Amino acid sequence: MSGNLVFDFTNSTETMVGEHGVSDIRLESFSDIAFRIDEDLKTRRKNGHLPYRDLPYSDVERIVAYGDSVRGKFKNFVNVGIGGSALGAQALVSALCHPFHNLIDRRPSDGMRMFFADNIDPDLLAGIFDVAPPRDTLYNIITKSGSTAETMGTFLLVRALLEKHVGSGWSDHIVVTTDEHKGDLRKIADDEGMESFAVPDGVGGRFSVLTPVGLIPAVCAGIDIRELLDGAASMDKRLESSDVMENPAYLYSFYQFILDTDKKKAISVMMPYSSALYGCADWYRQLWAESLGKKSDLKGATVNVGPTPVKALGVTDQHSQVQLYIEGPYDKVFTILAVESFSSDLYMDPAYKGAKSLDYLGGRTMAELIEAERLGTVYALTKNNRPNMTVRFPEVSPHTIGQFMYVFEVATLFSGRLYHIDPLDQPGVEGGKIAAFALMGRAGYEEKADEIRRGLTSIDRYVKK
Ligand code: PA5
Repeated sequence: MSGNLVFDFTNSTETMVGEHGVSDIRLESFSDIAFRIDEDLKTRRKNGHLPYRDLPYSDVERIVAYGDSVRGKFKNFVNVGIGGSALGAQALVSALCHPFHNLIDRRPSDGMRMFFADNIDPDLLAGIFDVAPPRDTLYNIITKSGSTAETMGTFLLVRALLEKHVGSGWSDHIVVTTDEHKGDLRKIADDEGMESFAVPDGVGGRFSVLTPVGLIPAVCAGIDIRELLDGAASMDKRLESSDVMENPAYLYSFYQFILDTDKKKAISVMMPYSSALYGCADWYRQLWAESLGKKSDLKGATVNVGPTPVKALGVTDQHSQVQLYIEGPYDKVFTILAVESFSSDLYMDPAYKGAKSLDYLGGRTMAELIEAERLGTVYALTKNNRPNMTVRFPEVSPHTIGQFMYVFEVATLFSGRLYHIDPLDQPGVEGGKIAAFALMGRAGYEEKADEIRRGLTSIDRYVKK
């Protein structure tokens, strides 16, 4: 158990960044809207239409027991899934495991070595198969739809590999997470008698990190998932307030929405000053983009809305992106993630005492230096009228990561209402899945394949050989 996340919106206000910021009057003008959306969301939740909101209270006994049973048995865990079936688990492992988790000497409680087959680049997959011998490996096949070409194609590779190296017991090396009733993978899992878990009905891929989609990889990596859910539950309590000024998820949505639509800051940069939290910025990038980037509004009118989320890493990107952020176009809003207490204290040696240019570092900690650099960036952004907000983690722990994921899921849903779009669908992504079926010759998609091929032309004048 650890402390609460702190949200600081000061530097997105008009007081701090002038005309590029949000005035209190503008924010308050939304209080009725906030109240209405909040009431509607509460009713929908009560009627069982927002199942992801109740995930912090899930019974995870079976998942914990499964983790206990496989952690000592297999050395490696290969996660086969993409998008929402990978990013949440990757964020958890990156935040909550050793930075070089796969390289440490391990006891079963340290969890398995974790690999993410989240792309179908043949060299990536062959590389994973090289370093994770099938006999010592558990493959986790995750697809909510049960039919995504990337995941099912990789499953076919895994199956053949296991049959070759393990023989008849191949299916004992596979665990499946998919829809409880529908889809190709559900049928295969049932027919082959594979261990399987279900994605709860009504929970979309990018909102599924607190279901077996994120929790199975987490327990296999040795993460305390009860603390994770506890953190999410504590955030759920904090988000009960319908008052915008009291509700960090709603405040985040409003600041981001006003800065995008009134102030034309359509690029939303999330910049953790912590390598562990970089995966969370990646997770946020999908959540924000896939949920809010929409062609049609709720009435079917074409609106083409959506902020563009970008991830950056402090301090690394201070020597790359920050020049643009501070002096380039006024088209961005920044969410800085700060960590108050790191797990490691590293002191810089006072080796060159008396040498003025180095003396200031000797005896100080790396945590002090990273904090100084974060404050320097926040100051420079604010002084240059670049709206920014900070989310402060007392520490990076399962409890604070649970809070983080839950508050951003709620903010995403709330933002969907502000943009008047459906944040829970993803027609653009589904289009890509259909194109893959068509171009790979899946029966029933012939017309689509012709249409795509007709649309793909190269004009000689513009092709240089
Ligand atoms: O958030 C989403 O819905 C998507 O990103 C999906 O997670 C992704 O497309 C993978 O889908 P599936 O889990 O059905 O294979």
